[in-house]
Amino acid sequence: MRQPLVIANWKLNGDLELAKAFAERWSSLASKAAICPPAVFLSDCKRLFPHLVLGAQNCSAEQSGAFTGELSADMLATVGADYVLIGHSERRALFHENDALVARKVAAAQNAGVTPVLCVGETLEQRQAGAEASVIIAQLEAGLAQADLSRLVIAYEPVWAIGTGETASPEQAQEIHALIRGWLKQRNASLAESIQLLYGGSVKPANAGELFEQQDIDGGLIGGASLDVEQFEAICKAVQDK
Ligand code: PGA
Repeated sequence: MRQPLVIANWKLNGDLELAKAFAERWSSLASKAAICPPAVFLSDCKRLFPHLVLGAQNCSAEQSGAFTGELSADMLATVGADYVLIGHSERRALFHENDALVARKVAAAQNAGVTPVLCVGETLEQRQAGAEASVIIAQLEAGLAQADLSRLVIAYEPVWAIGTGETASPEQAQEIHALIRGWLKQRNASLAESIQLLYGGSVKPANAGELFEQQDIDGGLIGGASLDVEQFEAICKAVQDK
């Protein structure tokens, strides 16, 4: 009943050549994929390859004003972003984004008509302390305090699995996805069934199938493997078989 979704997070990588490679293969990715290139390429991507589904990797919590270097969700919508990643662990760790800011960004995206992809996940220390469930719930409570659940994607990305080659086992990932779905059900039982929950953290063609087989995993948020169109395509094929 839920549409699968696989999102490419290029981070600070990629260019229009890579976008072209995706555009040429899009027919085998279409309807289940989106790409998040660096924001400077969004406008050209939309113009040159209008059939691509696009997202941004971040947005400002502000709409306009004296915020040097920032991009508003409205601006990103104007240049073609349908999705925006919010609260990625790299933004939380390297750019000191806290849950309050994440919540404001979710609201800014929704107000601009851009679907937020809220990223949540525990660090290795938190998992070793057995605190993963409470960390995830706290991130959901704070990040979605004011959110419209009808227009939302959530990505579970254990911090210890991002870019490390370590992947959560399918059982570990499903356990957290079920926790997230359960939390959503307490807020709105019918919407909870339709919200796409993505897994991210060292997803590759070799492990995508067993992750996407899990009941509450509806697709992936792909970093490293999304810089290679063939690997990304193989990951998309794995979700198609779900
Ligand atoms: P990775 O990154 O696939 O390279 O682990 C995932 C992400 O950070 O979204």
